[in-house]
Amino acid sequence: MKHFLAATFLAFALLITPIYGASVSRSSTLSPPTAYKPNPRTVTSEDGTRIYAEALGNKRNPAVVFVHGFGCSLVHYKKQFEDSKLLRNVYMIGYDMRGHGRSGAPFEPEAYESIRYAEDFKAVIDEFGVVKPFVAGWSAGGFVPADVVAAYGPSSISGVILLGTAMGPDEDLISIVTKPEMVGIFTGFASLDLLEFRSAALAFSTALYAVDFKVAFKEEQRFLGGMLTMHPSVRVSAAFRPYNGRAITAAQDELPFLVIQGAEDAAFNVTLVRDYMTEKGFNMEYHIFDRVGHSPFFEAPEKTNRLILDFVRDHA
Ligand SMILES: *[C@@H]1O[C@H](CO)[C@@H](O)[C@H](O)[C@H]1NC(C)=O
Repeated sequence: MKHFLAATFLAFALLITPIYGASVSRSSTLSPPTAYKPNPRTVTSEDGTRIYAEALGNKRNPAVVFVHGFGCSLVHYKKQFEDSKLLRNVYMIGYDMRGHGRSGAPFEPEAYESIRYAEDFKAVIDEFGVVKPFVAGWSAGGFVPADVVAAYGPSSISGVILLGTAMGPDEDLISIVTKPEMVGIFTGFASLDLLEFRSAALAFSTALYAVDFKVAFKEEQRFLGGMLTMHPSVRVSAAFRPYNGRAITAAQDELPFLVIQGAEDAAFNVTLVRDYMTEKGFNMEYHIFDRVGHSPFFEAPEKTNRLILDFVRDHA
C-alpha cells in the first residue's frame, strides 16, 4: 500500500512537472516590472521602534517620501513606485508607519504621539541621506507633514502633497470635514467585539474607492489583512492619535501644497476641505478628480503621478 502510494505520488509528480515548469516560466513575464527594485532598510527611530523603509530611483533627483494611510502599509503606493517616469525623475521613499506593516508596534499609547511620527520620518530620510524632501500623505498619512513641521520647522521639507486628506490648524479639523458615515466606522476600529470590528474593516475597505471602481480581490484582501494584523490596542492608538496642525498652518507662505482629491471620497467632504484650506490661506493647488474616491493615487495613478511630477519640478 505504501509503495502504491509512493508510486502514484511519483507518477503524479512526473506528470505535473512539465506543466509546473511551463507555468513557472510563463508567470515570470507577469512579474512586476523590473523597475520595482526596492532598497529595503529597517531603521531605528528615536524611541527604539524599528521602521521598515524602501527607496527607489535616482538619489540625485528630488526626493518624495510617501506616507500611507491607516490600517495598511507602503505597498499601496505600488502604482507610484512602478511608474517609470517618476522613477526617472524622483527619488521615491516609502515606509510603514509605526503600528503598521513591517514596522514595530509598541503597545503604550504615548508611542503614538505626534513627535514619534516626526522622529520616524527623520530616521528614514537620514538613513537614505535625504535633506528637505517633499512629503506625500494619504488619508491619516497626511498628518505626518504636520508632525514633521511641528518638530523640525517648515524648512525641513520642500512641499506637501495631500492625497485624500485634509490639513488645518484645528484639533477638530477631521470632525469638520469627515462624512458622518465614517464616524461609525472609526468607532468600530476601537471595538474589541470581533463582529463590530469586522463590519468596520469591511466598510472601510469599501470606502477607500469610488462606488464604480473595481478593486482587485488581491488588493482588497491585502488591505483587510493589514487591518487584521494590528493588535487592537495599537489599532486604537494609531486611529485616534493626536494631531496638531498649528505649526504647518502658520508656515503656509513658505510651503507649497499640492492637494489631490476624489469627488466621490467616502471619508471626507472634499469641497468642505477645499473651503477650509482656502480660508486658512494655504499656498496650494487643489484638484478634485471626478469619479474617483478616497484613493486618487490608486484609482487614477496616471493623472496623480503627472501632477506630482509637475509639482516637484516646479518647487524643487
Ligand atoms: C459637502 O458639504 C456641503 C456643505 O455642508 C454640502 O452642501 C455638500 O452636499 C457636501 N458634499 C458631499 C459630497 O457630501
